[in-house]
Amino acid sequence: MTQSEFDLVRKLAFDEAGIVLEHDKQYLVESRLQSLAKQTSHESPSSLIGQIARDIRLKQKVVEAMTTNETTFFRDHEPFEMLKNEILPALIQARQETRQLRFWYAACSTGQEPYSMLMLLAEHFPQLASWNVTHLATDISKDVIAKAKEGEYSQFEVNRGLPAVYLTKYFQKKGLHWKVSDALREQLRFQELNLNRTWVGIPKADIVFLRNVMIYFDLDAKRRIFQQLERTLEPDGYLFLGTAETTLNVTASFQRVAFGRTACYRPAAA
Ligand SMILES: C[S@@+](CC[C@H](N)C(=O)[O-])C[C@H]1O[C@@H](n2cnc3c(N)ncnc32)[C@H](O)[C@@H]1O
Repeated sequence: MTQSEFDLVRKLAFDEAGIVLEHDKQYLVESRLQSLAKQTSHESPSSLIGQIARDIRLKQKVVEAMTTNETTFFRDHEPFEMLKNEILPALIQARQETRQLRFWYAACSTGQEPYSMLMLLAEHFPQLASWNVTHLATDISKDVIAKAKEGEYSQFEVNRGLPAVYLTKYFQKKGLHWKVSDALREQLRFQELNLNRTWVGIPKADIVFLRNVMIYFDLDAKRRIFQQLERTLEPDGYLFLGTAETTLNVTASFQRVAFGRTACYRPAAA
């Protein structure tokens, strides 16, 4: 892969998805494009790059190949404890009249994050079964959304973060894989969404997961995303970022609320 091909892919990832690929990432980019070239029957990353001007879907696949989809069930554990012990009891109290709760997983990857939340609700808040509770899961990548919809995970994936009792209760064995129960899968609605564009079709939400995705963006992209989020998160709602992410020096519109060793964010006026 030549320097100019690398520069072209860097520019594409940045312009399309807001993803910043540092100059020292050429090796990573090349190895990801090598896998994509194999999948799409191109003989090399260079021949693949040569086609993207003529093939919109291929161009999109190149952008998707630049995303990092690492995720686990109950990632970081503590945010889910905070939700179970503090936030959900308070929010359920605050929504007694409307009996409505809306969750949005804004970079859901292969689905472990939304399914973790659904299991937590089924276990600890059975009263919500009679409420109007919606779960919207979005991501820029078609491939991860397809996998999340399928809800099928390898033994390795279910070994990462999922309590054994949840595995037997909410999954069925399917060959070498484990499939999430229909009762959980049916509660999730999926949509492709590029956070780096104007959001279309995203309703207001009480709880937003925007975890481990802002780290890939530059300051301007983060600011644009937080601006859109101001209009999307309810004034008394809750925002979850990844442990390495913060609103500090990015926006004053959200304030950090600490719970023990972890934290979430709320609209500044809340
Ligand atoms: C590291 S995963 C995080 C998954 C999950 N939120 C978690 O914390 O475990 C980052 C996800 O962000 C998605 N992503 C990257 N850029 C995006 C963009 N511009 N719009 C929407 N999703 C994006 C990737 O496709 C990937 O699935």
